[in-house]
Amino acid sequence: MYASTLFASTLFVATALAHGNITSPPARQPGPVMQQVCGSQAVSAILADGTGPLENIPSNGAADCNIFLCKGAQFEDNMKNVQTFAPGEKVAFKAQLPIPHEGPANVSIIDTATNTAVGQPLLVFDSYADENLAKLPPNNTAFSVTMPTSLGTACQTPGECTMQWFWFGTSAQQTYENCVDFVMSA
Ligand SMILES: *[C@@H]1O[C@H](CO)[C@@H](O)[C@H](O)[C@H]1NC(C)=O
Ligand SMILES: *[C@@H]1O[C@H](CO)[C@@H](O)[C@H](O)[C@H]1NC(C)=O
Ligand SMILES: *[C@@H]1O[C@H](CO)[C@@H](O)[C@H](O)[C@H]1NC(C)=O
Repeated sequence: MYASTLFASTLFVATALAHGNITSPPARQPGPVMQQVCGSQAVSAILADGTGPLENIPSNGAADCNIFLCKGAQFEDNMKNVQTFAPGEKVAFKAQLPIPHEGPANVSIIDTATNTAVGQPLLVFDSYADENLAKLPPNNTAFSVTMPTSLGTACQTPGECTMQWFWFGTSAQQTYENCVDFVMSA
């Protein structure tokens, strides 16, 4: 209860500059469990700008808090948003990129226990969000991935795997992540 009161008090922070994030499917959000794990400053930073880079999110330094896994957002705060995907299913994503920064991007399945990729990335952009283009290619903000057919029994337990959108702005030196929690249907 103490944690939820603290969490509520961070909800009304001013909106800052926007860079980019995933708008669909539903991606992990900060919540009371993240506040316990990573501290209220980390949660406030995300609530102030849900599109900002990981580098702007201050970690409390706790061993369990890894801002570089899903922005520090915790599965336990997002259990209502677990998607179910079938092997071979095409999953459509939408992103917003109000302030693009050129660099590589990918969408990968991540084993949350080890923060390592499961198999190859599902989608790779060598050059994403290039602010020097007159107009971003449509596939920067609307793209899809095809779920692998080779996972066996992996990713069938909620929280075991997450689908991570990862973008690194090379000159900006800024990292962006969002995680879509999912289970593979058997
Ligand atoms: C994306 O950013 C917006 C604006 O800050 C925020 O409202 C939204 O929750 C963010 N979504 C995700 C999945 O990070
Ligand atoms: C995604 O791209 C980043 C930046 O190039 C890279 O560090 C990361 O390893 C890539 N992820 C995978 C799973 O290949
Ligand atoms: C995105 O679109 C651009 C422009 O059409 C194309 O060059 C690039 O290969 C596409 N990238 C992906 C990952 O589909």
